[in-house]
Amino acid sequence: MTASRPAILIARKIFPEVVERLRTVFEVDAHLSDEPLDALALRARLQGKAGVFVAGTEPINAGLLAACPGLRAVCSMAVGYNNIDVPACTAAGVLASNAPGVLTETTADFGFALMMATARRIGEAERYLRAGHWKHWGFDMMAGADVHGSTLGVLGMGRIGQAIARRGVHGFGMSLIYHNRSRLPEADEQALGARWVDLPSLLREADHLVIVVPYSASSHHLIGAAELSQMKPTATLTNIARGGVVDDAALAQALARRTIAAAGLDVFEGEPAVHPDLLTLSNVVLTPHIASASLPTRRAMCDLAADNLIAALTGGVPPTALNPEVLTRA
Ligand code: DGY
Repeated sequence: MTASRPAILIARKIFPEVVERLRTVFEVDAHLSDEPLDALALRARLQGKAGVFVAGTEPINAGLLAACPGLRAVCSMAVGYNNIDVPACTAAGVLASNAPGVLTETTADFGFALMMATARRIGEAERYLRAGHWKHWGFDMMAGADVHGSTLGVLGMGRIGQAIARRGVHGFGMSLIYHNRSRLPEADEQALGARWVDLPSLLREADHLVIVVPYSASSHHLIGAAELSQMKPTATLTNIARGGVVDDAALAQALARRTIAAAGLDVFEGEPAVHPDLLTLSNVVLTPHIASASLPTRRAMCDLAADNLIAALTGGVPPTALNPEVLTRA
C-alpha cells in the first residue's frame, strides 16, 4: 500500500472493468453486492475513506458525514440525487457528483416504451395469452388507447422530459403540453410545438401524462388523489421519476375505480416494496426501476462516476459536480 493513494469505498456491485480502473488510482474497498449496505455498515466501511462511489440508493446525510470526517468526495452513478444531502456535503467540504446526460436517451426510450405498453395494454395482453385465455379474436380484445396523434403531457421538462417530448412529437405526431417550474426557451418550444400549461391544465388535457420531475420535499405527492381526479378517464399516467412524486395508494384507487385508464410505473414509494393494491390491478404495468438499464448506458454512468471520483481526489475538475464550489475554497 502506498501512503499517497487515497482510500475509497465502492458501495455497490458495478462493472469489474470500472473497479479495476479505480484500483489503478486508489486503495479500493469494494462492497460488490446488489444488496446495499445498511446505514451502520456504510458508516463503518467509510472510516478512513476519502471517497465513495454510490448509486441512487445510499443515503448520504449530515449524520453520516459527521461520522466520516476523512470523506472528501461522494460520487453517484445515478442522475437523481435525492439520496444525497448536497447542502450538508457542501457544509462539510465534501464534493458531491451525479451522472447527468449519459442516460438521457436510454431513459427516454424506456419512458416512451412504458407509456406505449400502458396505452396498448401490452403487459395485460401478454399475461392473458400466457394464461391460455386467448380462444378467439375479439373486436375489443385488449383494445387500448392510441398514442399517435394524441396529447402528450410531460411533467418535468429537463433533459429526459425533452427527449421524451421529441419522440412523441417527431415520431408519433403527438401534440405536446408540459409543465415545469421554468419554461423552455421560446425557440425550443417552437421546435417542439410545445405549450407550457399550469398543472391543472396539464392534468385535464393530457391523454398520456409522463412524469419526469425530480424528487424533493416540494415534489412529494405532487400527484395525489386531487390531481388524479382531474385527469381524463381515458388517460394514462407513466412515472419514471421517483417513487414519492406520485401517491401510490391514491393511484391504486384511481386505477381500481377506473377514474384513469391505466398507469405504467418504474418507480415506487418505498421501493423495492410495491403498494400491494397495485400488484392486484390489471391496468398497471410495473417494472423494477430499470429506465436507464441498457448495458452501454449503465457502463457510461459508472464511467462518469469514476471520472468524478478520480478528478475530485487527484486535483482535477470533476465533470459533473453538484457543488464544485467546495474545490475552490481555501
Ligand atoms: C437515476 O440515475 O437516477 C436512475 O433513476 C437510477 O437510479
